[in-house]
Amino acid sequence: MTAEDTLQQARERIGACADPGALKELEREYLGKKGAVAAMLAEIPKLAPQARKADGQRANDLKQALQALFDERGAALATTKLDALLRADDFDPTLPPPRALRGGLHPITQVTRELEDLFTSMGYEVLDGPEVELDHYNFEALNISKDHPARDSQDTFYCDDAGRLVLRTHTSPVQVRAMEKRKPPFRVIAPGRVFRQETTDASHDHTFYQMEGLVVGKDISVAHLIGAMKTLLRGMFGRDLEVRLRPGHFPFVEPGFELDARCPFCEAGCSVCKRTTWIELLPCGLVHPNVLRAGGIDPEVFSGFAFGLGLSRLVMLRHGIDDVRHLLSGDLRFLEQF
Ligand code: DAH
Repeated sequence: MTAEDTLQQARERIGACADPGALKELEREYLGKKGAVAAMLAEIPKLAPQARKADGQRANDLKQALQALFDERGAALATTKLDALLRADDFDPTLPPPRALRGGLHPITQVTRELEDLFTSMGYEVLDGPEVELDHYNFEALNISKDHPARDSQDTFYCDDAGRLVLRTHTSPVQVRAMEKRKPPFRVIAPGRVFRQETTDASHDHTFYQMEGLVVGKDISVAHLIGAMKTLLRGMFGRDLEVRLRPGHFPFVEPGFELDARCPFCEAGCSVCKRTTWIELLPCGLVHPNVLRAGGIDPEVFSGFAFGLGLSRLVMLRHGIDDVRHLLSGDLRFLEQF
């Protein structure tokens, strides 16, 4: 069969083909490895040298013409199929598309951002600090003596044999870093991840989140601290909550306190406040003079308050989560609820 005949025959068969599967089959018959065109090309080396060029050209032209016919018919059949789908009685164009998987912000990120917004609106600066921290900032400059139990390797992940580098056990080291780089008055918060070497259980994890706060200026007092904490509570729970201070001991504050707030979830006692109507909100206090000095600030001229908010705990409180280990489990069944 001549190339013209082959093309003519193919054109008729392609035109009559109404099914994409059959069209593919037909394409193989003409253009496949064992197809008509391949057979023509295989003949060429056997021809007399003078004939090779013209026959080769003919076979290639045929190949291109066929390919164009198959492509055109293929496109036409695809459109017909779509048209048929769109016209079908059971096709409802008003139905929503299948639900796409959507990511979301982790509840800790959500609460961190809310608090950052709240504190920046009060003139605070948001700071970051290293998670691998020098012993100096994590302990020494915070007035935590060499024999303090918090230094026990039970609680701290040490990163080197000399004990100079640690995974920070709290966000408090950012206090000293902030003081070194600033002149009072200033207000800062430092949210971030902290680490403790301890056996995990429902209320302890080796990795969790805190937010440090520090305000330094002239005549900063406990009254300022209470005022800031009341604003914090209003921002978090949307209304005024009564607070109380109990004595607390931390080497880097003097006096140190535990600040409680009236339980935002009940009036007469519930499981969250363990029937006491008070919830422990955060530890805080007036910055110890030794810490101000370590940060290069004269405690005779300036004073400050500091607080350490447990972000992981706050998220648990807010959403009624009973096990801190859920937070970093990466379990979608947990995460998809937020
Ligand atoms: N850094 C302390 C801890 O992780 C919490 C803390 C207590 C922070 C008192 C403070 C503070 O800023 O004033 O246990």
